Amino acid sequence: MSPRRRRPHLVFPDASELEEPLLDVQDLRTYFHTARGVVKANDGVSFTLNRGKTLGVVGESGSGKTVLTRSIMGLLPNIQLERSGSVRFAGHELTSLTAHQLRDVWGTQMAVIFQDPMTALNPVVRVDRQLTESLRIRLGLDRRAAHDTAIALLGSVGIPAPEQRMRNYPHELSGGMRQRVMIAIALACGPKLVLADEPTTGLDVTLQAQILDLLASLQRERSMGMILVTHDLGVVANRADDIAVMYAGRIVEQAPTKDLFSHTRMPYTEALLRSIPRLADPSHTRLRAIPGRPPDLASLPDGCPFAPRCPYAQDRCLTDDPPPRTAGAGHLFRCWFPVGSPEGEDALARNVAAGVPAALAFTGALAGAAISVTTVSVTATAVVTGSLAPDASLVPPAVPLVVPPVVPPVVSPGPAEGANGDATAGES
Ligand SMILES: Nc1ncnc2c1ncn2[C@@H]1O[C@H](COP(=O)(O)OP(=O)(O)OP(=O)(O)O)[C@@H](O)[C@H]1O
Ligand code: SF4
Ligand SMILES: [Mg+2]
Repeated sequence: MSPRRRRPHLVFPDASELEEPLLDVQDLRTYFHTARGVVKANDGVSFTLNRGKTLGVVGESGSGKTVLTRSIMGLLPNIQLERSGSVRFAGHELTSLTAHQLRDVWGTQMAVIFQDPMTALNPVVRVDRQLTESLRIRLGLDRRAAHDTAIALLGSVGIPAPEQRMRNYPHELSGGMRQRVMIAIALACGPKLVLADEPTTGLDVTLQAQILDLLASLQRERSMGMILVTHDLGVVANRADDIAVMYAGRIVEQAPTKDLFSHTRMPYTEALLRSIPRLADPSHTRLRAIPGRPPDLASLPDGCPFAPRCPYAQDRCLTDDPPPRTAGAGHLFRCWFPVGSPEGEDALARNVAAGVPAALAFTGALAGAAISVTTVSVTATAVVTGSLAPDASLVPPAVPLVVPPVVPPVVSPGPAEGANGDATAGES
């Protein structure tokens, strides 16, 4: 029998020697064939990311953010999956690599910080082994060196008394600590790219800020590229170089962060921006949630997928899918009636005048119109668009939202409690 031949390991250039972007994703499509039909979770996603830079990926639940990170990494099971397009990372086309070759990429070249550390960490394995395993397997360190490196890593992510924490199981740690352990595991083998998928879900705002600041400083130190996934534009506002806004499996607007905030073009992005709570708002200010629901990715409507919820929507939006357009360097969007353009302003004004619920909700005009909004929308949409069907989910609740009064926290002399209810000794 012939001896089994080992494939040569992939060779990756040092990130500083790269002459192309660290990550170049072009027309990535990730479809799931299900009993309900084809779920188009990513439908033609394209972007590039350079080393040391952060791309914020933002969108509502179900917009395809997690599938995007997994599709980039090649982490999705092949069953009922259809994937096409190109994912070039550090000079290699990842979509044509075998599972064996991808193992040379995971951990050492790119790593993921998962949405939920409690499910991503193995509950029956101590922190020690979860950290040292990849150091030993991927970097070939011996037991002693892996142990010492793991302790140093826990220290570098701000975990006090790391030797003691090494002996803990995940459930013995607070939410903040678990997230720090996840970050330490992700960074253990010195990846060039980190995909952080909602890395602060479930943590309170103070811990959120600490974890995100920690990630940012580790990224700077190591000149890593980072994709920071979140449903909250506020989280990436001052942490990302560029922002990609996802809706229904596509990037609907992408721009350098400052540009996205100052020259928003997409009505969906504008609606997301308006849903961010602001410190300057008076207390009891009602948050402006986006009315309606995102579309079912297994049966997308014709035209623009945001049309049923869009305050600017016109007839054309219901039939013609808007192609990507540019608005200055690095700024792309998909809309027929962009925010800030004369045609956008006209469209919004027409919809407000006609009483289209999405437009009234957006402009805050609903307070006076709420009582008769259903009637108004039926007649008005017929006049203005002829076909904009009133969507029951857009009709606001008749009863105003009751905001509970702010109760000052009770300060107890006991040990500090973490956001997740468990003691966070040393959590900073
Ligand atoms: N294995 C799968 N089979 C079928 N559909 C899937 C599969 N994985 C994800 N989806 C669908 O793909 C769509 C995008 O899911 P994804 O998890 O990427 O959303 P998300 O933007 O990360 O949402 P969230 O903010 O809630 O995490 C959803 O409609 C989801 O139901
Ligand atoms: S104006 Fe039309 S094309 Fe633009 S986001 Fe709204 S529905 Fe889509
Ligand atoms: Mg997700």
